[in-house]
Amino acid sequence: MTAQIIDGNALAKNIREEVAGRTAALQAKGIQPHLAIVLVGEDPASQVYVRHKVADSEQTGLKATLERHPATLSEADLLARITALNADPSVHGVLVQLPLPRHMDSHRVIETISPAKDVDGFHVASAGALLVGQPGFWPCTPHGCLKMLDSIGYDLEGKHAVVIGRSNIVGKPMALMLLGRDATVTITHSRTRDLKALTLQADVVVAAVGKRNVLTADMVKPGAVVIDVGMNRNDEGKLCGDVDFAGVKEVAGWITPVPGGVGPMTRAMLLVNTITAAERTAG
Ligand code: GUN
Repeated sequence: MTAQIIDGNALAKNIREEVAGRTAALQAKGIQPHLAIVLVGEDPASQVYVRHKVADSEQTGLKATLERHPATLSEADLLARITALNADPSVHGVLVQLPLPRHMDSHRVIETISPAKDVDGFHVASAGALLVGQPGFWPCTPHGCLKMLDSIGYDLEGKHAVVIGRSNIVGKPMALMLLGRDATVTITHSRTRDLKALTLQADVVVAAVGKRNVLTADMVKPGAVVIDVGMNRNDEGKLCGDVDFAGVKEVAGWITPVPGGVGPMTRAMLLVNTITAAERTAG
């Protein structure tokens, strides 16, 4: 059996088109949706990420403002900038790119963003809203994974999903989103004993550890859906995920590739959160 590929690039393109339509509708009402991105320091990966976020936004008609600050910026000054963006009615989404310089407390910085503008979905209020099933912003990566499951018409009710990885921005929110669809969820992590015994029972596996070959073919139930959140480099320096793609695709029913899988969906869901934030202010 060879798995069907869930094409993140194609799905993300559809989502961007939908966001562009919603953006045009707001513009027709005189509202220009606007994402403010704050970058502190010179982290090379962050520079690439924020460039993509600006380009994606502009492509869909969203205004994106990139604020660059030196790594020497004080935490107090950063908090003051965020407070000003919170109060600026022309700004609908505020994103502070992580990681921050070591002298800053990332948690305190994120908690300063208004939950109404927290398009990353990292604020405790956003996490709490997801937990109790109230409206709020969902973190972009797990939300993108859920959209990928939806794209194949997958009915999660009563299915067993195994999430590998328990980060606050992927594994834990992913588990809550799957539970919200009436799946049975097992959250595992790097110290889980006999992971294979669990993944072999799974109808859906989401791998989000950040390590190559976390999931190999012998760990997958035939026909399962495998979502690969990992972003690693292989020995040749090529981008690869957490899943042994070549092996697992011979066992799984559906699989997401890396690159071209979850990555573009994460980027697309940021646009969805931003247009949603703007629509909420429009009433
Ligand atoms: N750094 C790496 N990924 C992300 C992300 O999704 N949001 C923010 N704010 N920083 C990041």
